[in-house]
Amino acid sequence: MIFKTNTCALYGIEGHVIEVETDLSNGLPGFDIVGLPDAAVRESRERVRAAIKNSDFLFPQKRITVNLAPANIRKEGSIFDLAIAAGILGVSMYIINEALEGFAFLGELSLNGNVKGIKGVLPMCLSLKEKGFRKLILSKDNADEAALVGGMEIYPVESITEMVEFFKGNRDITPHEVNPEAILRSSNEEEYDFEDVRGQNTAKRALEIAAAGAHNVIMLGPPGAGKTMLARRLPSILPEMSFEESLEVTKIYSIAGLLKDKLYLITRRPFRSPHHTMSAGSLIGGGKVPHPGEVSLSHYGVLFLDEMPEFPKNVLEVLRQPLEDECVTISRVGGTITYPAKFMLISSVNPCPCGYYGDGTGRCSCSPSQIKSYLGRISGPLMDRIDLHIEVPAVNFSDLSCRTKEENSASIKKRISKARKLQLERYKNEGIYFNSQLKPKQVTTYCIIGKKERDLLKNAFERFNFSARAYNRILKVARTIADLEESENIKIEHIAEAIQYRSLDRKYTL
Ligand SMILES: Nc1ncnc2c1ncn2[C@@H]1O[C@H](COP(=O)(O)OP(=O)(O)O)[C@@H](O)[C@H]1O
Ligand SMILES: [Mg+2]
Repeated sequence: MIFKTNTCALYGIEGHVIEVETDLSNGLPGFDIVGLPDAAVRESRERVRAAIKNSDFLFPQKRITVNLAPANIRKEGSIFDLAIAAGILGVSMYIINEALEGFAFLGELSLNGNVKGIKGVLPMCLSLKEKGFRKLILSKDNADEAALVGGMEIYPVESITEMVEFFKGNRDITPHEVNPEAILRSSNEEEYDFEDVRGQNTAKRALEIAAAGAHNVIMLGPPGAGKTMLARRLPSILPEMSFEESLEVTKIYSIAGLLKDKLYLITRRPFRSPHHTMSAGSLIGGGKVPHPGEVSLSHYGVLFLDEMPEFPKNVLEVLRQPLEDECVTISRVGGTITYPAKFMLISSVNPCPCGYYGDGTGRCSCSPSQIKSYLGRISGPLMDRIDLHIEVPAVNFSDLSCRTKEENSASIKKRISKARKLQLERYKNEGIYFNSQLKPKQVTTYCIIGKKERDLLKNAFERFNFSARAYNRILKVARTIADLEESENIKIEHIAEAIQYRSLDRKYTL
Protein backbone atom coordinates (compact mmCIF):
# COMPACT_ATOMS: atom_id res chain seq x y z
CA MET A 1 0.00 0.00 0.00
CA ILE A 2 1.36 3.40 -0.98
CA PHE A 3 0.37 6.74 0.47
CA LYS A 4 1.45 10.06 -1.04
CA THR A 5 1.97 13.43 0.61
CA ASN A 6 3.61 16.58 -0.69
CA THR A 7 6.15 19.02 0.66
CA CYS A 8 8.75 21.42 -0.68
CA ALA A 9 12.55 21.76 -0.86
CA LEU A 10 14.47 24.95 -1.52
CA TYR A 11 17.31 25.47 -3.95
CA GLY A 12 18.49 29.05 -3.70
CA ILE A 13 15.29 31.03 -3.54
CA GLU A 14 13.32 28.59 -5.69
CA GLY A 15 11.18 25.85 -4.23
CA HIS A 16 10.64 22.39 -5.72
CA VAL A 17 7.68 20.21 -4.89
CA ILE A 18 8.79 16.98 -3.27
CA GLU A 19 6.48 14.01 -3.31
CA VAL A 20 6.78 11.78 -0.27
CA GLU A 21 5.72 8.21 -1.06
CA THR A 22 5.26 5.94 1.91
CA ASP A 23 5.11 2.22 1.37
CA LEU A 24 4.18 -0.37 3.95
CA SER A 25 5.14 -3.95 3.26
CA ASN A 26 5.40 -7.18 5.16
CA GLY A 27 8.78 -8.22 6.42
CA LEU A 28 11.08 -7.36 9.27
CA PRO A 29 10.01 -4.10 10.93
CA GLY A 30 12.17 -1.27 9.64
CA PHE A 31 12.05 2.32 8.48
CA ASP A 32 14.08 3.61 5.52
CA ILE A 33 14.18 6.95 3.75
CA VAL A 34 15.45 6.92 0.17
CA GLY A 35 15.74 9.57 -2.57
CA LEU A 36 19.01 11.39 -1.91
CA PRO A 37 18.36 12.48 1.66
CA ASP A 38 21.20 14.08 3.64
CA ALA A 39 22.06 13.13 7.22
CA ALA A 40 19.53 15.56 8.69
CA VAL A 41 16.71 14.05 6.64
CA ARG A 42 17.72 10.56 7.74
CA GLU A 43 17.56 11.74 11.34
CA SER A 44 13.98 12.61 10.70
CA ARG A 45 13.24 8.84 11.07
CA GLU A 46 13.92 9.04 14.77
CA ARG A 47 11.93 12.24 15.26
CA VAL A 48 8.95 10.97 13.30
CA ARG A 49 8.95 7.60 15.10
CA ALA A 50 9.11 9.25 18.54
CA ALA A 51 6.55 11.90 17.61
CA ILE A 52 4.00 9.31 16.42
CA LYS A 53 4.48 7.04 19.43
CA ASN A 54 4.37 9.91 21.92
CA SER A 55 1.15 11.16 20.39
CA ASP A 56 -0.48 7.78 21.23
CA PHE A 57 -0.70 6.51 17.67
CA LEU A 58 0.49 3.03 16.83
CA PHE A 59 3.69 2.98 14.85
CA PRO A 60 3.36 0.23 12.21
CA GLN A 61 5.40 -2.88 13.02
CA LYS A 62 6.14 -3.55 9.37
CA ARG A 63 8.66 -2.55 6.79
CA ILE A 64 8.29 1.18 5.95
CA THR A 65 10.00 2.71 2.95
CA VAL A 66 9.75 6.44 2.36
CA ASN A 67 10.77 7.70 -1.06
CA LEU A 68 11.40 11.38 -1.63
CA ALA A 69 10.80 12.12 -5.29
CA PRO A 70 12.25 13.34 -7.60
CA ALA A 71 15.25 11.34 -6.48
CA ASN A 72 17.83 13.36 -8.41
CA ILE A 73 17.75 16.43 -6.21
CA ARG A 74 19.41 16.53 -2.84
CA LYS A 75 17.11 16.86 0.17
CA GLU A 76 18.35 18.72 3.19
CA GLY A 77 17.29 19.61 6.69
CA SER A 78 14.35 18.76 8.87
CA ILE A 79 11.52 20.31 6.87
CA PHE A 80 10.14 17.00 5.59
CA ASP A 81 9.25 15.65 9.07
CA LEU A 82 5.61 16.63 8.91
CA ALA A 83 5.04 15.25 5.40
CA ILE A 84 6.72 11.96 6.35
CA ALA A 85 4.67 11.67 9.55
CA ALA A 86 1.48 12.34 7.58
CA GLY A 87 2.47 9.55 5.17
CA ILE A 88 3.00 7.06 7.96
CA LEU A 89 -0.24 8.08 9.67
CA GLY A 90 -1.81 7.55 6.27
CA VAL A 91 -0.53 4.02 5.72
CA SER A 92 -1.60 3.27 9.30
CA MET A 93 -5.15 4.35 8.34
CA TYR A 94 -5.36 7.30 10.72
CA ILE A 95 -5.78 9.61 7.72
CA ILE A 96 -7.55 8.69 4.49
CA ASN A 97 -6.02 9.47 1.14
CA GLU A 98 -8.93 11.45 -0.26
CA ALA A 99 -8.77 13.93 2.60
CA LEU A 100 -5.32 15.03 1.47
CA GLU A 101 -6.30 16.24 -1.99
CA GLY A 102 -4.42 19.48 -2.75
CA PHE A 103 -2.61 19.65 0.60
CA ALA A 104 1.09 20.23 1.20
CA PHE A 105 2.95 19.87 4.50
CA LEU A 106 5.80 21.97 5.86
CA GLY A 107 7.25 21.49 9.30
CA GLU A 108 9.69 19.93 11.68
CA LEU A 109 8.58 17.68 14.51
CA SER A 110 9.68 17.55 18.09
CA LEU A 111 9.80 14.23 19.88
CA ASN A 112 6.48 14.84 21.66
CA GLY A 113 4.64 15.36 18.37
CA ASN A 114 4.57 19.14 18.29
CA VAL A 115 4.96 20.84 14.92
CA LYS A 116 7.79 23.35 14.86
CA GLY A 117 8.43 26.30 12.55
CA ILE A 118 11.04 26.19 9.80
CA LYS A 119 13.00 28.71 7.76
CA GLY A 120 12.11 29.64 4.20
CA VAL A 121 8.33 29.18 4.40
CA LEU A 122 7.62 32.20 2.22
CA PRO A 123 9.52 31.05 -0.91
CA MET A 124 8.27 27.47 -0.41
CA CYS A 125 4.72 28.63 -0.14
CA LEU A 126 5.05 30.74 -3.30
CA SER A 127 6.41 27.76 -5.22
CA LEU A 128 3.69 25.45 -3.95
CA LYS A 129 1.07 27.93 -5.02
CA GLU A 130 2.66 28.16 -8.45
CA LYS A 131 2.51 24.36 -8.74
CA GLY A 132 -1.19 24.39 -8.01
CA PHE A 133 -1.36 23.62 -4.31
CA ARG A 134 -3.99 25.57 -2.44
CA LYS A 135 -3.92 24.10 1.06
CA LEU A 136 -1.08 24.02 3.49
CA ILE A 137 -0.54 22.39 6.88
CA LEU A 138 2.23 23.95 8.90
CA SER A 139 3.31 25.16 12.31
CA LYS A 140 1.56 28.07 14.00
CA ASP A 141 4.96 29.80 14.06
CA ASN A 142 4.98 29.98 10.26
CA ALA A 143 1.32 30.80 9.70
CA ASP A 144 1.72 34.58 9.31
CA GLU A 145 4.62 34.26 6.94
CA ALA A 146 2.78 31.75 4.76
CA ALA A 147 -0.36 33.87 4.71
CA LEU A 148 1.62 36.72 3.15
CA VAL A 149 1.44 34.84 -0.12
CA GLY A 150 -2.34 35.10 -0.35
CA GLY A 151 -4.68 32.83 -2.25
CA MET A 152 -3.78 29.77 -0.18
CA GLU A 153 -5.67 28.15 2.67
CA ILE A 154 -3.24 28.05 5.56
CA TYR A 155 -4.07 25.55 8.31
CA PRO A 156 -1.73 26.00 11.27
CA VAL A 157 -1.50 23.04 13.64
CA GLU A 158 0.14 22.69 17.03
CA SER A 159 0.73 18.95 16.92
CA ILE A 160 0.26 15.89 14.75
CA THR A 161 -2.68 14.91 16.96
CA GLU A 162 -4.41 18.13 15.97
CA MET A 163 -3.59 17.42 12.32
CA VAL A 164 -5.17 13.94 12.45
CA GLU A 165 -8.27 15.28 14.19
CA PHE A 166 -8.55 17.89 11.45
CA PHE A 167 -8.34 15.33 8.66
CA LYS A 168 -10.83 13.08 10.40
CA GLY A 169 -13.23 15.97 10.51
CA ASN A 170 -13.34 16.09 14.30
CA ARG A 171 -11.79 19.50 14.53
CA ASP A 172 -12.32 22.68 12.57
CA ILE A 173 -9.42 24.92 11.80
CA THR A 174 -10.18 28.29 10.26
CA PRO A 175 -7.70 29.07 7.52
CA HIS A 176 -5.23 31.62 8.80
CA GLU A 177 -5.37 35.05 7.27
CA VAL A 178 -3.06 37.92 7.66
CA ASN A 179 -4.18 41.38 8.49
CA PRO A 180 -3.16 43.58 5.54
CA GLU A 181 -2.55 46.52 7.86
CA ALA A 182 0.03 44.53 9.72
CA ILE A 183 1.96 43.79 6.55
CA LEU A 184 2.51 47.43 5.98
CA ARG A 185 4.10 47.81 9.37
CA SER A 186 7.63 47.71 8.09
CA SER A 187 7.09 50.85 6.10
CA ASN A 188 6.07 52.83 9.17
CA GLU A 189 9.26 52.14 11.00
CA GLU A 190 11.51 55.02 11.76
CA GLU A 191 14.16 55.65 9.17
CA TYR A 192 17.32 57.68 9.02
CA ASP A 193 16.90 60.88 7.06
CA PHE A 194 19.36 63.15 5.31
CA GLU A 195 17.92 66.16 7.07
CA ASP A 196 19.88 65.11 10.19
CA VAL A 197 23.17 65.61 8.41
CA ARG A 198 24.43 69.17 8.71
CA GLY A 199 26.51 70.64 5.92
CA GLN A 200 28.46 68.04 3.88
CA ASN A 201 26.82 69.31 0.74
CA THR A 202 29.43 67.86 -1.59
CA ALA A 203 29.09 64.40 -0.06
CA LYS A 204 25.31 64.57 -0.17
CA ARG A 205 25.36 65.61 -3.79
CA ALA A 206 27.70 62.74 -4.63
CA LEU A 207 25.45 60.25 -2.86
CA GLU A 208 22.49 61.62 -4.78
CA ILE A 209 24.38 60.92 -8.02
CA ALA A 210 25.32 57.47 -6.78
CA ALA A 211 21.70 56.67 -5.96
CA ALA A 212 20.47 58.05 -9.28
CA GLY A 213 22.75 55.87 -11.40
CA ALA A 214 23.18 52.97 -8.92
CA HIS A 215 26.91 53.62 -8.79
CA ASN A 216 29.16 52.01 -6.20
CA VAL A 217 30.86 54.43 -3.87
CA ILE A 218 33.94 54.78 -1.74
CA MET A 219 33.99 57.52 0.91
CA LEU A 220 37.27 58.90 2.11
CA GLY A 221 37.58 60.93 5.27
CA PRO A 222 38.87 61.16 8.83
CA PRO A 223 37.12 59.38 11.72
CA GLY A 224 34.05 61.23 12.96
CA ALA A 225 33.48 63.04 9.67
CA GLY A 226 30.08 61.41 9.31
CA LYS A 227 30.80 58.67 6.77
CA THR A 228 28.75 56.05 8.59
CA MET A 229 26.01 58.58 9.18
CA LEU A 230 25.82 59.40 5.47
CA ALA A 231 25.91 55.78 4.30
CA ARG A 232 23.06 54.80 6.64
CA ARG A 233 20.84 57.35 4.99
CA LEU A 234 21.36 56.12 1.46
CA PRO A 235 18.39 53.69 1.42
CA SER A 236 16.10 56.58 2.31
CA ILE A 237 16.73 58.23 -1.08
CA LEU A 238 16.57 55.10 -3.22
CA PRO A 239 13.29 54.65 -5.11
CA GLU A 240 10.58 52.55 -3.43
CA MET A 241 10.81 48.83 -4.05
CA SER A 242 8.19 47.33 -6.30
CA PHE A 243 6.03 44.51 -4.90
CA GLU A 244 8.08 41.92 -6.82
CA GLU A 245 11.31 43.33 -5.40
CA SER A 246 9.85 43.31 -1.89
CA LEU A 247 8.80 39.73 -2.27
CA GLU A 248 12.21 38.67 -3.54
CA VAL A 249 13.97 40.37 -0.63
CA THR A 250 11.49 38.90 1.85
CA LYS A 251 12.14 35.43 0.41
CA ILE A 252 15.86 35.78 1.10
CA TYR A 253 15.22 36.94 4.67
CA SER A 254 12.80 34.06 5.13
CA ILE A 255 15.47 31.55 4.08
CA ALA A 256 17.97 33.19 6.41
CA GLY A 257 15.41 32.95 9.24
CA LEU A 258 15.51 36.71 9.72
CA LEU A 259 11.87 37.69 9.40
CA LYS A 260 11.76 39.32 12.78
CA ASP A 261 8.14 39.32 13.84
CA LYS A 262 7.12 36.82 11.18
CA LEU A 263 4.60 39.19 9.69
CA TYR A 264 6.79 41.16 7.56
CA LEU A 265 6.86 41.89 3.92
CA ILE A 266 10.10 43.80 3.64
CA THR A 267 9.18 47.02 1.93
CA ARG A 268 12.27 48.97 2.87
CA ARG A 269 15.47 48.56 0.95
CA PRO A 270 17.94 46.60 3.06
CA PHE A 271 20.99 48.23 4.59
CA ARG A 272 23.65 45.77 5.75
CA SER A 273 26.80 46.76 7.49
CA PRO A 274 28.86 43.66 8.27
CA HIS A 275 31.83 43.98 10.61
CA HIS A 276 35.32 43.54 9.21
CA THR A 277 35.92 40.45 11.33
CA MET A 278 33.38 38.51 9.30
CA SER A 279 34.44 35.55 7.21
CA ALA A 280 34.27 35.26 3.44
CA GLY A 281 31.60 32.59 3.99
CA SER A 282 29.25 34.88 5.88
CA LEU A 283 29.71 37.62 3.33
CA ILE A 284 28.97 35.48 0.33
CA GLY A 285 26.81 32.77 1.89
CA GLY A 286 27.54 29.13 2.44
CA GLY A 287 27.52 26.41 5.04
CA LYS A 288 26.32 22.87 4.82
CA VAL A 289 22.78 23.87 4.08
CA PRO A 290 23.87 27.04 2.26
CA HIS A 291 22.41 30.16 3.80
CA PRO A 292 22.33 33.54 2.08
CA GLY A 293 25.28 35.78 2.94
CA GLU A 294 25.46 39.52 3.52
CA VAL A 295 25.65 40.20 -0.22
CA SER A 296 22.25 38.53 -0.68
CA LEU A 297 20.77 40.11 2.43
CA SER A 298 21.65 43.44 0.78
CA HIS A 299 19.75 42.49 -2.38
CA TYR A 300 18.08 45.59 -3.91
CA GLY A 301 19.61 47.64 -1.12
CA VAL A 302 22.92 48.79 0.23
CA LEU A 303 25.96 46.84 1.41
CA PHE A 304 28.11 49.11 3.54
CA LEU A 305 31.70 48.10 4.21
CA ASP A 306 32.91 50.48 6.87
CA GLU A 307 36.67 50.95 6.94
CA MET A 308 37.14 48.68 3.99
CA PRO A 309 40.94 48.21 4.27
CA GLU A 310 40.35 46.50 7.64
CA PHE A 311 38.61 43.62 5.87
CA PRO A 312 40.96 40.74 5.05
CA LYS A 313 41.96 40.59 1.41
CA ASN A 314 40.33 37.23 0.78
CA VAL A 315 37.03 38.56 2.11
CA LEU A 316 37.14 41.56 -0.21
CA GLU A 317 38.06 39.42 -3.18
CA VAL A 318 34.90 37.32 -2.97
CA LEU A 319 32.90 40.48 -3.61
CA ARG A 320 34.03 40.56 -7.19
CA GLN A 321 31.68 37.89 -8.47
CA PRO A 322 28.46 39.37 -7.07
CA LEU A 323 29.51 42.86 -8.15
CA GLU A 324 29.98 41.54 -11.66
CA ASP A 325 27.09 39.06 -11.94
CA GLU A 326 24.53 40.45 -9.48
CA CYS A 327 24.22 37.02 -7.91
CA VAL A 328 26.36 34.56 -5.99
CA THR A 329 26.93 30.95 -6.84
CA ILE A 330 27.76 28.68 -3.95
CA SER A 331 29.31 25.34 -4.84
CA ARG A 332 29.14 22.37 -2.59
CA VAL A 333 28.78 18.62 -2.67
CA GLY A 334 25.82 17.70 -4.77
CA GLY A 335 25.65 20.81 -6.93
CA THR A 336 25.63 24.57 -6.85
CA ILE A 337 22.98 27.01 -5.82
CA THR A 338 22.50 30.63 -6.68
CA TYR A 339 21.21 33.48 -4.58
CA PRO A 340 20.47 36.91 -5.99
CA ALA A 341 22.86 39.66 -4.87
CA LYS A 342 22.19 42.95 -6.59
CA PHE A 343 23.27 45.69 -4.25
CA MET A 344 24.92 49.08 -4.15
CA LEU A 345 28.31 48.89 -2.53
CA ILE A 346 29.17 51.77 -0.25
CA SER A 347 32.55 51.61 1.38
CA SER A 348 34.45 53.95 3.61
CA VAL A 349 38.14 54.41 4.21
CA ASN A 350 40.21 56.60 6.44
CA PRO A 351 42.90 58.38 4.44
CA CYS A 352 45.61 56.50 6.33
CA PRO A 353 45.90 54.02 9.24
CA CYS A 354 45.69 56.76 11.90
CA GLY A 355 42.99 58.62 9.99
CA TYR A 356 44.40 62.13 9.93
CA TYR A 357 46.49 62.24 6.76
CA GLY A 358 45.92 65.44 4.83
CA ASP A 359 43.63 67.14 7.37
CA GLY A 360 46.03 70.09 7.66
CA THR A 361 46.76 69.70 11.37
CA GLY A 362 49.92 67.69 10.99
CA ARG A 363 48.64 65.13 13.48
CA CYS A 364 49.22 62.25 11.08
CA SER A 365 52.27 60.17 11.87
CA CYS A 366 51.90 57.52 9.15
CA SER A 367 54.74 57.01 6.70
CA PRO A 368 54.04 57.17 2.95
CA SER A 369 54.65 53.45 2.65
CA GLN A 370 52.18 52.72 5.47
CA ILE A 371 49.56 54.84 3.73
CA LYS A 372 50.19 53.14 0.43
CA SER A 373 49.94 49.65 1.83
CA TYR A 374 46.79 50.58 3.81
CA LEU A 375 44.88 51.75 0.76
CA GLY A 376 46.56 49.14 -1.41
CA ARG A 377 44.61 46.45 0.45
CA ILE A 378 41.69 47.30 -1.80
CA SER A 379 42.70 45.56 -4.98
CA GLY A 380 42.60 47.12 -8.44
CA PRO A 381 39.85 44.85 -9.76
CA LEU A 382 37.65 45.78 -6.81
CA MET A 383 38.36 49.50 -7.22
CA ASP A 384 37.42 49.01 -10.85
CA ARG A 385 33.84 48.43 -9.84
CA ILE A 386 33.61 51.65 -7.82
CA ASP A 387 32.55 54.66 -9.89
CA LEU A 388 32.51 57.44 -7.31
CA HIS A 389 35.14 58.52 -4.81
CA ILE A 390 33.67 60.90 -2.28
CA GLU A 391 35.78 62.99 0.02
CA VAL A 392 34.13 63.58 3.36
CA PRO A 393 36.07 66.20 5.33
CA ALA A 394 35.50 66.74 9.04
CA VAL A 395 32.45 68.95 9.59
CA ASN A 396 33.26 72.43 10.72
CA PHE A 397 31.66 74.11 13.69
CA SER A 398 29.65 76.65 11.71
CA ASP A 399 27.95 73.88 9.73
CA LEU A 400 27.18 71.92 12.87
CA SER A 401 25.74 74.87 14.73
CA CYS A 402 23.90 76.31 11.76
CA ARG A 403 20.16 76.50 12.28
CA THR A 404 18.99 76.33 8.68
CA LYS A 405 16.95 73.31 7.79
CA GLU A 406 18.64 70.68 5.64
CA GLU A 407 16.84 69.10 2.69
CA ASN A 408 15.06 65.90 3.68
CA SER A 409 15.36 62.51 2.02
CA ALA A 410 11.89 62.55 0.48
CA SER A 411 12.71 65.63 -1.54
CA ILE A 412 16.07 64.25 -2.74
CA LYS A 413 14.35 61.00 -3.64
CA LYS A 414 12.01 62.76 -6.06
CA ARG A 415 14.93 63.90 -8.22
CA ILE A 416 16.46 60.44 -8.12
CA SER A 417 13.26 58.74 -9.20
CA LYS A 418 13.06 61.04 -12.22
CA ALA A 419 16.64 60.28 -13.24
CA ARG A 420 16.05 56.56 -12.86
CA LYS A 421 12.97 56.70 -15.04
CA LEU A 422 14.99 58.31 -17.83
CA GLN A 423 17.52 55.47 -17.62
CA LEU A 424 14.88 52.74 -17.62
CA GLU A 425 13.40 54.25 -20.76
CA ARG A 426 16.76 54.68 -22.50
CA TYR A 427 17.97 51.15 -21.78
CA LYS A 428 14.71 49.28 -22.23
CA ASN A 429 16.13 47.26 -25.11
CA GLU A 430 19.57 46.77 -23.61
CA GLY A 431 18.77 44.44 -20.73
CA ILE A 432 20.21 46.91 -18.22
CA TYR A 433 18.58 49.47 -15.95
CA PHE A 434 21.13 52.01 -14.82
CA ASN A 435 24.12 53.97 -16.03
CA SER A 436 26.43 52.04 -13.71
CA GLN A 437 25.66 48.88 -15.68
CA LEU A 438 26.86 50.24 -19.03
CA LYS A 439 29.42 48.00 -20.67
CA PRO A 440 32.33 49.68 -22.52
CA LYS A 441 30.61 49.28 -25.84
CA GLN A 442 27.40 50.77 -24.55
CA VAL A 443 29.36 53.70 -23.12
CA THR A 444 30.39 54.64 -26.65
CA THR A 445 26.75 54.54 -27.73
CA TYR A 446 25.10 56.33 -24.83
CA CYS A 447 27.77 58.67 -23.48
CA ILE A 448 28.60 60.71 -26.53
CA ILE A 449 30.50 63.90 -25.85
CA GLY A 450 31.47 66.88 -28.01
CA LYS A 451 34.87 68.36 -28.67
CA LYS A 452 34.85 70.80 -25.74
CA GLU A 453 34.04 68.01 -23.33
CA ARG A 454 36.64 65.75 -24.87
CA ASP A 455 39.32 68.43 -24.50
CA LEU A 456 38.48 68.89 -20.85
CA LEU A 457 38.71 65.18 -20.27
CA LYS A 458 42.02 65.01 -22.10
CA ASN A 459 43.43 67.81 -19.97
CA ALA A 460 42.29 66.13 -16.81
CA PHE A 461 43.92 62.87 -17.85
CA GLU A 462 47.21 64.58 -18.48
CA ARG A 463 47.09 66.67 -15.34
CA PHE A 464 45.93 64.08 -12.86
CA ASN A 465 47.56 61.09 -14.40
CA PHE A 466 44.31 59.12 -14.44
CA SER A 467 44.50 55.47 -15.23
CA ALA A 468 42.64 54.04 -18.18
CA ARG A 469 39.97 52.64 -15.89
CA ALA A 470 38.92 56.15 -14.91
CA TYR A 471 37.80 57.00 -18.42
CA ASN A 472 34.57 55.00 -18.67
CA ARG A 473 33.71 55.68 -15.04
CA ILE A 474 33.88 59.43 -15.56
CA LEU A 475 31.64 59.16 -18.60
CA LYS A 476 29.07 57.00 -16.80
CA VAL A 477 28.93 59.31 -13.82
CA ALA A 478 28.66 62.31 -16.16
CA ARG A 479 25.73 60.55 -17.84
CA THR A 480 23.99 60.25 -14.47
CA ILE A 481 24.66 63.90 -13.64
CA ALA A 482 23.12 64.86 -16.98
CA ASP A 483 20.12 62.62 -16.22
CA LEU A 484 19.59 64.33 -12.87
CA GLU A 485 19.35 67.56 -14.80
CA GLU A 486 17.13 65.89 -17.37
CA SER A 487 19.66 66.90 -20.01
CA GLU A 488 19.80 64.81 -23.15
CA ASN A 489 23.45 65.71 -23.78
CA ILE A 490 26.43 65.34 -21.53
CA LYS A 491 27.74 68.85 -21.12
CA ILE A 492 31.09 70.20 -20.07
CA GLU A 493 29.92 70.93 -16.51
CA HIS A 494 28.76 67.34 -16.13
CA ILE A 495 32.20 66.07 -17.15
CA ALA A 496 33.88 68.60 -14.87
CA GLU A 497 31.82 67.43 -11.90
CA ALA A 498 32.40 63.75 -12.68
CA ILE A 499 36.16 64.35 -12.68
CA GLN A 500 35.84 65.57 -9.08
CA TYR A 501 34.75 62.10 -8.02
CA ARG A 502 38.02 60.38 -8.94
CA SER A 503 40.03 61.67 -6.00
CA LEU A 504 41.63 58.34 -5.21
CA ASP A 505 43.03 58.14 -8.72
CA ARG A 506 44.45 61.59 -8.32
CA LYS A 507 45.91 61.31 -4.86
CA TYR A 508 47.16 57.80 -4.65
CA THR A 509 48.03 55.14 -7.09
CA LEU A 510 46.17 52.11 -5.87
N1 LIG B 1 27.43 66.51 9.29
C1 LIG B 1 27.03 66.12 10.49
N2 LIG B 1 25.87 66.56 10.99
C2 LIG B 1 25.45 66.15 12.20
N3 LIG B 1 26.11 65.28 12.99
C3 LIG B 1 27.28 64.78 12.53
C4 LIG B 1 27.79 65.17 11.26
N4 LIG B 1 28.94 64.51 11.06
C5 LIG B 1 29.15 63.75 12.15
N5 LIG B 1 28.17 63.92 13.04
C6 LIG B 1 28.07 63.26 14.35
O1 LIG B 1 29.27 62.57 14.57
C7 LIG B 1 29.01 61.19 14.78
C8 LIG B 1 30.11 60.34 14.18
O2 LIG B 1 29.97 60.24 12.80
P1 LIG B 1 30.27 58.90 12.02
O3 LIG B 1 29.30 58.83 10.93
O4 LIG B 1 30.34 57.75 12.92
O5 LIG B 1 31.72 59.25 11.46
P2 LIG B 1 32.71 58.29 10.66
O6 LIG B 1 31.96 57.10 10.22
O7 LIG B 1 33.19 59.14 9.53
O8 LIG B 1 33.82 57.97 11.59
C9 LIG B 1 27.66 60.94 14.20
O9 LIG B 1 26.98 59.91 14.84
C10 LIG B 1 26.95 62.27 14.39
O10 LIG B 1 26.34 62.32 15.65
MG1 LIG C 1 32.37 55.15 10.74
